[in-house]
Amino acid sequence: MHNATSLRKLFLGAALAALFVSGAPTAVQAKKAAAAEWPVVTSPVKRDDAMEARIAQIIAGMTLRQKIGQMTQPDIRSITPDEVRQYYIGSILNGGGAWPEGKKQAAVSDWVALADAYYKASMATDMAVNVPVIWGTDAVHGHNNVFKTTLFPHNIGLGAAHDPKMIREIAHLTAKQVRATGITWAFAPTVAVVQNPRWGRTYESYSSDPKLVRSYAREFVGGMQADLKGPDAVIASVKHFLGDGGTHGGVDQGETRSSRANLIKTHGQGYYGAIEAGVQTVMISYSSYTDSGTGVAHGKMHGNRELITDVLKGKLGFDGLVVSDWNAIEQVKGCTRTRCVQAVNAGIDLFMVPDDWKKFIDEAVADVEAGKIPMSRIDDAVTRILRVKMRSGLFDGSPMPTVAAASHMADSKVRSLARDAVAKSLVLLKNSKRNLLPLSRKSKVLLVGKGADKVGSQLGGWSLTWQGDETDDSDYPLADDMLSALQKTVANGGKVDFSADAAGVDVKAYDVVIAVLSERPYAEMKGDVRIPETLRHSDRYPQDLAVLKAVSGKGVPVVSVLFSGRPVYANNLINLSDTFVAAWLPGTEGQGITDVLFRAADGKPNRAFRGTLPFDWPGAACPEVSKKPVLFKRGFGLTAIKTSKLGKLVEDKLATCPALPE
Ligand code: BGC
Ligand code: BGC
Repeated sequence: MHNATSLRKLFLGAALAALFVSGAPTAVQAKKAAAAEWPVVTSPVKRDDAMEARIAQIIAGMTLRQKIGQMTQPDIRSITPDEVRQYYIGSILNGGGAWPEGKKQAAVSDWVALADAYYKASMATDMAVNVPVIWGTDAVHGHNNVFKTTLFPHNIGLGAAHDPKMIREIAHLTAKQVRATGITWAFAPTVAVVQNPRWGRTYESYSSDPKLVRSYAREFVGGMQADLKGPDAVIASVKHFLGDGGTHGGVDQGETRSSRANLIKTHGQGYYGAIEAGVQTVMISYSSYTDSGTGVAHGKMHGNRELITDVLKGKLGFDGLVVSDWNAIEQVKGCTRTRCVQAVNAGIDLFMVPDDWKKFIDEAVADVEAGKIPMSRIDDAVTRILRVKMRSGLFDGSPMPTVAAASHMADSKVRSLARDAVAKSLVLLKNSKRNLLPLSRKSKVLLVGKGADKVGSQLGGWSLTWQGDETDDSDYPLADDMLSALQKTVANGGKVDFSADAAGVDVKAYDVVIAVLSERPYAEMKGDVRIPETLRHSDRYPQDLAVLKAVSGKGVPVVSVLFSGRPVYANNLINLSDTFVAAWLPGTEGQGITDVLFRAADGKPNRAFRGTLPFDWPGAACPEVSKKPVLFKRGFGLTAIKTSKLGKLVEDKLATCPALPE
């Protein structure tokens, strides 16, 4: 019976026997055993000998300063094109809310002009062979730092849509938009497998289902990078390696406590999918890793040589470049934001040192000269950076940024895809009135809610600005918020009136109330809901509860639409609603919602609800201490034809949550 399993058993037996003979396993043996569990994944992008020889030749002619310059990534707010030339800078980025000349409404031509200036500067150095600079941007739901762009639903909504093919298409059209501004690298997709919705980046995650994350990562990278060279191809960056979605208490940049096995089977999945699609860059996570099996605290991921070098570059065979996150190296023990020998030696190749980059260069040069960083490590880093640049056609001037310009940020194809994605992402959680949905276009609609006439409430963070705040509707002239989507939908015979708080409104004069409940926009660092805060939406947004109280119980059906970056505890809001829709952060195309809520112009049903929950939906204000932490399981979602027998939900009274046990 010599099948594979019995052979493996035989090997294990032999290994165990060897252990008994030699005593406890050495650290090296233990490490090897653990590393062996990582899956075998294969990138379709193969090594090209001629290319490798060319890279080696270029590197042989580079000075140390030129090499370190290649490993440096400043933010556009802190570097001029001429400094790119002077310091041999390998890469630049525009962080969230960084635009050409600081203009929020910069035109596409401004972006192209700036990209051109940086590119030309990089090709005008005194290096033996000039190396083109590569510009990275957070295109995480469309090309979201650019004025008049179409914004897709954030990842959480795409996860609800469970449509991998659509992900490919979204990534492809996003790549086109990015390329149209002269940029060739996007810091996406985020493949965090989020475990706790308290985390302020939950909406950047597709799902808590690792299988879905893996398939989406594969499709996203395939759609964005395409053949790596075409006029629409943009380099993808899968992030944040590893375990960003697993932090204790859902704390941003926190500590991920996880067994090795869980790291492999949960948090690693997105990377397997991305590598299988040929992803060329990986961004490291701010979080730290503690092995809950052994209790060993490995510290910040940015200093984790084992996971970055032995696992990612070794076991998983990743041969592209590893980039650090924004000033993240300063969090590694013993490091500053400009100096981190551990991070270089751990295997990070390119350093996102947005502002203090000159100091970073000086100190890294000194550390190599002092022998603290081996030259072989520097050469490996630069090799990987040049490899990615060559594979993406940058060395062939293919295409120079200007060649790709012209295309519109919001052409009809992009908008209709985004609208379709919105429709697919809606999850119907409650539908207690038979034959209420879909609504007639001739309905008299009362629209209420503070976020119903503000597009920002449906965009979330990473929208024109970092946090998605400091913007208003004039920054999104092409977008449809709920009010404008309704105005475009409701036909002659019907009407739409809007009141943010429903004060003094005669609700009975309407056929239906549509209530928009919403979180204010947020992103990393600011978006966490930390213990002792509850996950109850109305604790943070009492106006939403107040407005529902003002309109419900008047004999007019109430359809609630929630814009949120996470599943929230909302039993009180659900009780006051006849219909309750989780709409996540749908982006600029509000008509994707009315497409589903309303019948078509001819009176026939238009589009059905088909989204299902990408995460469990909380059934308690403090799920971590509740006996009934979940109201709806991941995968739940009604169709409009189905009425639910939800009944009145018990309302949890806890006003604050107890601290987590350590
Ligand atoms: C975020 C990354 C992002 C980077 C650049 C960091 O703070 O964690 O996801 O790509 O900033 O904006
Ligand atoms: C940048 C973001 C970055 C953040 C991190 C902001 O100023 O614009 O892109 O992620 O800082 O601290």
